Amino acid sequence: MKSIKIFDTTLRDGEQSPGCSMTVSKKVRLAIMLDRMDVDIIEAGFAASSENDFKAIKEISKVVENSVVTSLARCNKRDIDIAYEAIKDANKKRIHVFIATSDIHMKYKLKKTKEEVKSIVKDCVSYAKKKCDDIEFSLEDATRTDTDFAVEIIDIAILSGATTINIPDTVGYTVPEEFTEFLSYIKKHSKYINEVDLSVHCHNDLGLATINSLSALKVGATQIECTINGIGERAGNTALEEVVAAINTRVDYFKCETGINKKKIYEVSRYVQDITNSYVQNNKPIVGANAFKHEAGIHQAGVINNKKTYEIINPEDYGIYVDNIVIGIHSGKNAIIDKMKKLGFNVDDYDIDNIVIEIKKYCADNSSISDVDITRIVHNNEIKKLVLSKKNMS
Ligand code: KIV
Ligand code: ZN
Repeated sequence: MKSIKIFDTTLRDGEQSPGCSMTVSKKVRLAIMLDRMDVDIIEAGFAASSENDFKAIKEISKVVENSVVTSLARCNKRDIDIAYEAIKDANKKRIHVFIATSDIHMKYKLKKTKEEVKSIVKDCVSYAKKKCDDIEFSLEDATRTDTDFAVEIIDIAILSGATTINIPDTVGYTVPEEFTEFLSYIKKHSKYINEVDLSVHCHNDLGLATINSLSALKVGATQIECTINGIGERAGNTALEEVVAAINTRVDYFKCETGINKKKIYEVSRYVQDITNSYVQNNKPIVGANAFKHEAGIHQAGVINNKKTYEIINPEDYGIYVDNIVIGIHSGKNAIIDKMKKLGFNVDDYDIDNIVIEIKKYCADNSSISDVDITRIVHNNEIKKLVLSKKNMS
């Protein structure tokens, strides 16, 4: 079975969504969760963009154990130096360099000719390669780039040392058939593309990010870039949970797999909602409140007789447990632990005794407590020693 790499950019493109900035300690905590969920690559930020990003990437590089840690960098030596400085302590590291290649971006943003862009790509990818073996190169606004120019740029990047070529649909403009034609053209005309990973990075301006990413699998993409809950610039990026669930549920069609530990998805989704204050809509696939609820009588009758009449996904596979226990003033520690598990928390990571005290105090003032408020209290009680002990080991 073909294995697809999952590149998570919640901490970089996700953080670019309005109102979604995260503190350094919350970013480190999220990176640990992504590592445990077995994402292949964590884009921890854009080191040259701010002190805060640099600091977060550096801390993340010290604690992530298995995932590759990467930082974004523009095609210039200063950005590449700063990116490398931020990731250099990581067990596995990658530098991700990008430059815009569409006519409109080159003319109005970069103010560079095609020849100039080609020479910048050669110089910068070779420069990054001297620091790090694993180099990803992205053609920003690729889907509005002249296809023959895209092929030229790709071959220059690979000859200069790129090991992954990423094709972003930066403005969420393309549609599945057009996108697969573009990728097939690259596959056919680039001399070297088959020697590296082919990645896609789609934005959701027309609601097509997930289907565009999935379509790319049929024409040879080996990496999908995505974010938890689909957060990201403007209308967001491809949602990790949707891609993973689609590949898993329709394995008969896609004939590939990811290494994601699916049971962790709900916990990570809840955490991202909480720390970004950006809550998913009720009908959001996989992680929305209504994703596994049935209201119509006909549907209910079907599900009672056989779940598969209306359920194509087992929520427990994604760490989601349907629950009708209400936590209130009379609830005990066991019920609270059970509730936490159902909400997708790994109970060992939290200070349970304090959580019980805080929940009971809340219930004394409010009679009962919602899942959202329980989640907030739990997140405030994450055990700091988890992060600290990992740091001390390094
Ligand atoms: O959308 C985009 O083009 C990007 C690149 C920088 C990869 O986020
Ligand atoms: Zn993007």
